[in-house]
Amino acid sequence: MTFPVNRMRRLRANENLRDMVRETHLNVKDFIYPLFVTYGKDKQIPIQSMPGVFQFSVDQLHDEIKEINSLQIPAVLLFGIPEYKDSLASSGYDEHGVVQEATRFIKDICPDLLVITDVCLCEYMDHGHCGVVEDDGTVNNDASLELLAREALSHVKAGADMVAPSDMMDGRVGYIRKILDSEGYDHIPIMAYAAKYASGFYGPFREAAESAPQFGNRRTYQMDPANVLEALREVELDIKEGADIVMVKPAMAYLDVLKTVKEKYGYPTAAYNVSGEYSMVKAAAEKGWIDEESVMKEILLSIKRAGADMIITYAAKDMSRILLRR
Ligand code: PBG
Repeated sequence: MTFPVNRMRRLRANENLRDMVRETHLNVKDFIYPLFVTYGKDKQIPIQSMPGVFQFSVDQLHDEIKEINSLQIPAVLLFGIPEYKDSLASSGYDEHGVVQEATRFIKDICPDLLVITDVCLCEYMDHGHCGVVEDDGTVNNDASLELLAREALSHVKAGADMVAPSDMMDGRVGYIRKILDSEGYDHIPIMAYAAKYASGFYGPFREAAESAPQFGNRRTYQMDPANVLEALREVELDIKEGADIVMVKPAMAYLDVLKTVKEKYGYPTAAYNVSGEYSMVKAAAEKGWIDEESVMKEILLSIKRAGADMIITYAAKDMSRILLRR
């Protein structure tokens, strides 16, 4: 059989037609917006390396939440900057901790906004690691599980709709699932940071969350950027332990991982367009080297195209404004 020479440009000449044959669509409803909540009052502190992103004290969250809601963004992901840090991350599971208070506040003023909480110990530990650190400097996996589960439970008790463990300790999804179930929260889903790589792209976040490790690095518990089969094993374990949504993080440099995870498991899949990915675009745009809007859009579209059902992104507000404009 012979085909006529296919002129692909026939489908590109008209804007309406281009819209009709478009395979991937970005939607405001895809976005999860990260929020940094800090202790104290009257605070709205700009993060130097992340233009447009702030730490808010709970009393200053009102306008931000209303804005997020008016932009139709369906979900926020909360990170806490606590007043005190210690070697047991106790401010992380304090009933009146920053994330717990922020959760209550948000659910009170905006009950329909989905509140997801990041569950990790690094922000609450004096040493900044994601788990309990032994005297010899190693991270004790199993001792960390109990603290993580305590933190997750306290978030849920405060009203969180979903918890998102980001620590990368082995077995934490199952452990958290078990505790939530036994406390009557079997309806609360878990979004697992399943394939989380040890990445230079987290740099600006560590300024934002004040969570840089005081010694060493996270390479003993976060993944080697060279590995994709290992990511599949991580995802599989988290699914077996009861994860409802699996996440790949970072996004841009790991689109192959995202695509493979989505194709192999067909699970609800989240991608985290992390701080460094956001900051690079902002910085280059500030210098006038790239067009922020088109680059941001292209990046988010590529993440969606690779298989993400939802995207955690600091660009959520900017992009929602753009998407709602038309
Ligand atoms: C906490 C955590 C990190 C990020 C999300 N949760 C930092 C890290 O693991 O070092 C990074 C998010 C970002 O860079 O935007 N463990």
